[in-house]
Amino acid sequence: MARRPVIAGNWKMHNLQQEAANLTNEIMQALKTEDKEKLPEVIIAPTFTSLYAANKALKDCGCGKVRLAAQNCFYETKGAFTGECSVEMLKDAGCEYIIIGHSERRQYFGETDEMVNKKAKAILANGLIPIICCGESLEQREAGVTDYHIASQITKALRDLSKEEVAKSIIAYEPIWAIGTGKTCDATEANRVIAMIRNTVKGLYDTTTSESIRILYGGSVKPETIKEQMSKSDIDGALVGGASLKADSFAQIIKGAM
Ligand code: PGA
Repeated sequence: MARRPVIAGNWKMHNLQQEAANLTNEIMQALKTEDKEKLPEVIIAPTFTSLYAANKALKDCGCGKVRLAAQNCFYETKGAFTGECSVEMLKDAGCEYIIIGHSERRQYFGETDEMVNKKAKAILANGLIPIICCGESLEQREAGVTDYHIASQITKALRDLSKEEVAKSIIAYEPIWAIGTGKTCDATEANRVIAMIRNTVKGLYDTTTSESIRILYGGSVKPETIKEQMSKSDIDGALVGGASLKADSFAQIIKGAM
């Protein structure tokens, strides 16, 4: 079963509104001559305050080649939750995807597997697509518990989701030691872990579901690494941090995934 590749840019806490609009326009400019049907699903994830500006730039262009994601959400629908954004609010701001469980959110903001699961449910209930992040630390890798840890994160994140919901979700495998370090995980090893994740999904659901879900690699993805990553059997695309902040490198990654 052919899975459509996904290239998602996680802008993290960068870009004021004007910068976000400019970068969005530059990305679309760089993709101008590309056939929409041949492009991967291209996603950008600006910070909350720049969603409006990025969405406006996307709408003004009208080419439909780039979609919008948020970097986080809260799972309740509304109420006294100071500082949070509901899925409905993010949908209203133009988001079609929401990144959840990123290691930075787990590390600095106490996001747990249970919260990731509640967020995934809220996102899917609103018709959006979760990009569920998982990944091991260097200590876990060295202790030989990578597979156990990742399988546990995925099992908890997907709890009580239907197979239809899981089939349309996206997982991003991001070894923490590879994020923002310039140290990319070897493509063969990344593919091994991603195949293990797919096998975990198969065990929880069935083959149709595990063959449908898109699983991305993230962690120091660069224009030079994408081709080898995309040549692997189970890697369906990339979640890109640093290299998504420049239209030129992000566009090279997108084209490398075609
Ligand atoms: P990086 O970030 O590409 O800068 O390593 C990836 C991520 O955190 O999603």
